[in-house]
Amino acid sequence: MALKNKASMPSPALIDLPKIADPRGNLTFAQTPDHVPFDIARAYWLYDVPADAERGGHGHVSLQQLIVALGGSFTVNLFDGYRWKKVLLNRPYKALYIPSGIWRTLDDFTSGSVCLVLASEPYSEDEYIRDFDKFKEFAANFEPRL
Ligand code: TYD
Repeated sequence: MALKNKASMPSPALIDLPKIADPRGNLTFAQTPDHVPFDIARAYWLYDVPADAERGGHGHVSLQQLIVALGGSFTVNLFDGYRWKKVLLNRPYKALYIPSGIWRTLDDFTSGSVCLVLASEPYSEDEYIRDFDKFKEFAANFEPRL
């Protein structure tokens, strides 16, 4: 496959967050720029997600995210326009960085799980790509990164 003229973009990556172990309970934090490679503009969280539900199902034109399983576990399915990759998040001190231009779905939520998302931009529907074919056209501008 000819990859000439395709832009190089960051890859999704797992980031180890600090874990301050303490008999009173553990503490983890994330701060820019040490663990979050963008300025945080928004946080949202998913909870009470049924075991058979799928969340996500979109890509972003410019938005970057950091996803953490604050409790329980779930699977993040990533697609860069070329191949899929599954990432299991099941520790509150492991964060998944997702750059722009990556399609993602989230599934296999365990009971009581909480998914925290830190985002680089305020919410804007204009910035979402929710059509899979349109996403594939968009992603074809970039080199594979999974
Ligand atoms: P949606 O993008 O479908 O959620 P997910 O990515 O988890 O599947 O968003 C669900 C609804 O919530 C949709 O109507 C948009 C709205 N929403 C906001 O208003 N603000 C936000 O920050 C987010 C993430 C969603």
